[in-house]
Amino acid sequence: MRRKLAAGNWKMNGTSATLTEISALQKLLPANAPEVLICPPAPLLFRAAQIAANTGIRIGAQDCHAETSGAYTGDTSAAMIVDTGAAHVIIGHSERRTAHAEQDADIAAKARTAWAAGLNTIICIGEDLETRENGTTLDLIATQLAGSIPDAASAENTIIAYEPIWAIGTGKIPTLPQIIEVHDFIRATLTTRFDADTANAIPLLYGGSVKPDNAAQIFTAENVDGALVGGASLKASDFAPIVTALAQS
Ligand code: 13P
Repeated sequence: MRRKLAAGNWKMNGTSATLTEISALQKLLPANAPEVLICPPAPLLFRAAQIAANTGIRIGAQDCHAETSGAYTGDTSAAMIVDTGAAHVIIGHSERRTAHAEQDADIAAKARTAWAAGLNTIICIGEDLETRENGTTLDLIATQLAGSIPDAASAENTIIAYEPIWAIGTGKIPTLPQIIEVHDFIRATLTTRFDADTANAIPLLYGGSVKPDNAAQIFTAENVDGALVGGASLKASDFAPIVTALAQS
């Protein structure tokens, strides 16, 4: 059985006071909880990892640099992330692709660097509204998969998050058939590229306006193994029901 994962991306939200949400979340988790990951902003990683140490909740970063060290003011290396106690890193989020002009090749380079440091990567892909409306979503997904995911991807080092840009922070979500179509396509594409065991074991997350009231339906899709949650991951009381819905799926 594939591992299930509920991941929270806090984006540029929160201060040290917000970290109490991690212990609050632990108290609300069901006994059979799947993997739970919280990705706070970089300055909070170290304290977040300390707080999460005995909870079973894991901590991840939101980005890392493709180089291992050097003159890159403001950036964070993969080794620095490992040093905080975090085990995961999100790579290629659409907000970084858009605001920082990250290309598929940059994302693949970051993934290789993150793996070399021992991090598990959540590699994000997803179409914008124009692509969705002109009917070329699957072409773009194929291009992003080919360009952003290096050949050395495995179920141990990679999770893929499908996040349609038009669904992020908008309250709009694709229909269930649209989610199923893309996730099935991602799985099929992985199957043509990797061995069957690898292709079947890489967890596929859906992201974009996942909320307590829509999570259970999204998790009915066979190739949805969890969620990457933005706004609803900031409060334990919102995130816990999503984790519970995943545990029950
Ligand atoms: P929202 O859940 O706020 O739509 O954000 C999704 C996202 O971008 C997670 O990475």
